Amino acid sequence: MGGLSRRPPSGGLGPLIHLIRRFFQSIVDKGPDPVQEAWLLGLLSGAESALYRQMSPADRSHAVRSARCPALVDDAQRAAAALHDVGKIHAGLGTWARVAATLAGAVLPSRLRGRWADYRDHPRLGAAMLLEAGSAQITVVWAAEHHLPLGKSSLSPEVATALAAADQ
Ligand SMILES: [Fe+2]
Ligand SMILES: [Fe+2]
Repeated sequence: MGGLSRRPPSGGLGPLIHLIRRFFQSIVDKGPDPVQEAWLLGLLSGAESALYRQMSPADRSHAVRSARCPALVDDAQRAAAALHDVGKIHAGLGTWARVAATLAGAVLPSRLRGRWADYRDHPRLGAAMLLEAGSAQITVVWAAEHHLPLGKSSLSPEVATALAAADQ
């Protein structure tokens, strides 16, 4: 997730626990290992790399970690895993604002405005950016759907399960 929210609409304590873990990761994260980042950039197109480079250090670390997940079977899946949260660059929120936007979105989603609304809407915004960048369908679809329950994904169950496993 790189940001602070993965599948926030689902119930239970899972989203809250994920939020807390991601918060502490985000405040100490200085960005991915340069060698691992170079490996990832080798999988991305020029337009995708340009989007990736606009992500925050914590989001880039999350992207690299996601792409390296052993559940992924090919580079198309790795690129999709890496770029799923790219829509967060549109909102440009820092760590504290992400916490606030995530909590506010959980309580009053229809009241969010401006960059907080954009943050919550990062799946749709990211998918639009990736479509514009000419990304593969799996990359666009996973960005759009990565907060949906797996059963609602339009990807095959095997692919959606692998990509979800990578988003930790
Ligand atoms: Fe994520
Ligand atoms: Fe996300």
